[in-house]
Amino acid sequence: MHKSVLSDETIKSLNIKENGVYIDCTLGHGGHSLEILKKLNNTGHLYSIDQDAEAIKVAKEKLKNFKNITIIKGNFVDLDKYISQYEIKNIDGILFDIGVNSSQFDTAERGFSYRFDSRLDMRMNQENELDAYKVINEYSSDMLTEIFRKYGEVKNSKQLSNEIVKSRSEKPIKNTFELNKVIDSVNPAWSKKNPYKQVYQALRIEVNNELDVIEKAIQKALDNISVDGRVAVITFHSLEDKIVKGVFSRNKQEFIETPMELKYKFRTFKSVYPTKKEVEENLRSRSSKLRIIRKNY
Ligand SMILES: C[S@@+](CC[C@H](N)C(=O)[O-])C[C@H]1O[C@@H](n2cnc3c(N)ncnc32)[C@H](O)[C@@H]1O
Repeated sequence: MHKSVLSDETIKSLNIKENGVYIDCTLGHGGHSLEILKKLNNTGHLYSIDQDAEAIKVAKEKLKNFKNITIIKGNFVDLDKYISQYEIKNIDGILFDIGVNSSQFDTAERGFSYRFDSRLDMRMNQENELDAYKVINEYSSDMLTEIFRKYGEVKNSKQLSNEIVKSRSEKPIKNTFELNKVIDSVNPAWSKKNPYKQVYQALRIEVNNELDVIEKAIQKALDNISVDGRVAVITFHSLEDKIVKGVFSRNKQEFIETPMELKYKFRTFKSVYPTKKEVEENLRSRSSKLRIIRKNY
C-alpha cells in the first residue's frame, strides 16, 4: 500500500472548506483523497483522477464508504476536459502528488524497478502504446542520449546509448536485467553511484511524457481554480520542481493596478519539506517538496 507523503501539510495547505469542491489529480491509493473526504460534509465534493486502473481499484476499496467522490480514470493533462465534462464549478483546491505510487514500483511486472527482472514496461497507463521496451529497442542512439541526458542527467549518456544500440543489434533488450547488464558495461565497477537509478528515471519520464503533462496540467489548474482557491503540488525530483516553480512564477507576474496598490493575481507560500520523522518512517518522502499557490482575484 502506498504511504502518502506530506499528508498533514498538504491538507493544511489546501485550507479545506467542509462544503468545498476539490480535485485530487493523482488519486494513487487514495491516501490524500481520504484525508480530504474526512473534512468534507455532504455538500462538499471531491473528484479524483488517476491513469492507472490498478491504483483506482485499490483506492475505490479504500474510499467505498464515501458518497461525495467521483473517480475519473484518465490523464490529468485533460483536467480542463474533465472540468467541463463533469460540470465542476467553484473549485476550491486542486492537488497533484506527482510521480509513481509504491505498488507501481514494487510490482515486478510493471517494469519500473531495476531491482526485479521483468519485461521493460514502465507505463502508468497500461493502455498506452509507448513502453520502455519500445524506447530502448526503437529509439535512435541520439534520441536515447538526449533522454538520458535531459531526464536522468546521466553522465556517460552517449556511451550508454551506443552500447544499447550495439547490444540490441545482436538481440532485442527485453528485460530489466538485460538492460542492467548494458548499464554495467559502461560503468566502472568502482563507481559508488547507483548507475541504474538515473537511467530508469529518464526512461519512466519519457514513457509517460511526465514533464510535459505536469506543465500543461498545472497551468490548467491555475486557469480553473476559484478566487481564494489553492493549488498544491508535491514533487520528488528537481526536474519536476523546476517546472512547477516556472509555471507558478509565470502566473505570479499577472497583476492589476488599483489606486492604492498593485494587486497580484496569485500568491505563493513557502515550500514545505518532510520532517525528519517522516523521512525516517518513509524513505520515499526524503526528496519530496510541496509548493502551494493561491488565487487572489
Ligand atoms: C505518488 S502517487 C499518488 C499517491 C496518492 N496521493 C496517495 O496518497 O495514495 C501518483 C499517482 O499519480 C498517477 N499519475 C501520475 N501521472 C499521472 C497523470 N499524468 N495522469 C493521471 N494520473 C497520474 C500515478 O498512476 C500514481 O498512482
